[in-house]
Amino acid sequence: MTTPNTDRPTPNVPSGTHDDFSRVETWDDQRTENWVKNLELRAAGADQVRLRREIIDIARLRAGQCAIEIGSGTGPLLRDMAPVVGPAGRIIGIEPQTGLARYSRERGVANLPNVEVRNERAIATAVAMRTADVCIAQTVLIHVPLPERGETVAKMIELTKSGGRVISADQDAESWVIDHPDRAMTRRITAFYVEQRFTDGWWARKSRGEFMRAGLKDVESRAIVVMATDPQSYEFQMAKQRANAAAQAGWIAIDEAARWSGALDERAAAGQFFTTLNFYVTCAVKQ
Ligand SMILES: C[S@@+](CC[C@H](N)C(=O)[O-])C[C@H]1O[C@@H](n2cnc3c(N)ncnc32)[C@H](O)[C@@H]1O
Repeated sequence: MTTPNTDRPTPNVPSGTHDDFSRVETWDDQRTENWVKNLELRAAGADQVRLRREIIDIARLRAGQCAIEIGSGTGPLLRDMAPVVGPAGRIIGIEPQTGLARYSRERGVANLPNVEVRNERAIATAVAMRTADVCIAQTVLIHVPLPERGETVAKMIELTKSGGRVISADQDAESWVIDHPDRAMTRRITAFYVEQRFTDGWWARKSRGEFMRAGLKDVESRAIVVMATDPQSYEFQMAKQRANAAAQAGWIAIDEAARWSGALDERAAAGQFFTTLNFYVTCAVKQ
């Protein structure tokens, strides 16, 4: 039985206040190390591999082309794109978090001579206009605050050649589904996740309209459902991390988070862990 959390005010803070990725330049070594581990764990999931394949497919990426990924993180998409463009092609990662940029250079894409990782924010990049056949942001724009998000989309368009493609791939935070016996607490944790862990948890569903309003043409959309049932998965770790973060932020009590996570452990021990999250890929052509 969950104790109603009536003794604390509902936190009234701007959305995205607890979004780690909106202020990556402030991370300490511990936070960087945790996210390196978690991003690599997420990238290894079968549905995430499928998502990257869909992105490369919709981009029509081929040998000899140049692709830019903004917010390249540890480099999973860079690694997958490198063999597609081959030795005559070029892949550029733009990554503002110094530790992630270093990790991707030394581990993520080491030994891939056609890949370069630059340590800078997208809007501040010195990469020349019209360099890319394809410019991609994967799980990045959901984290970028306004007005920088609009400037970042404008920069992606600027970096792309005429006739080239601009792509956004993101999760829609409100599509997070998890099987849990406590519906009321699950809804409170979900609300925290949607409103606080992302600057705009609705970015993915909005990206189609935003790309059109930015002047891009021939907009295509694809949806990919990421599902996890394995307690070793990123999705299981993150479900518990979301409950913890909600407690740290004062949205739920510490004991409520502990009870919610304990019930999730019981589901997992019985082989009953089940969660899904929708990812939307938006691809459009620069005139
Ligand atoms: C959730 S991670 C995704 C990393 C990678 N794209 C992936 O899918 O594994 C978000 C990434 O966006 C980067 N990022 C945040 N703000 C950015 C900005 N304004 N310009 C470029 N990258 C940004 C972060 O440093 C981080 O690497």
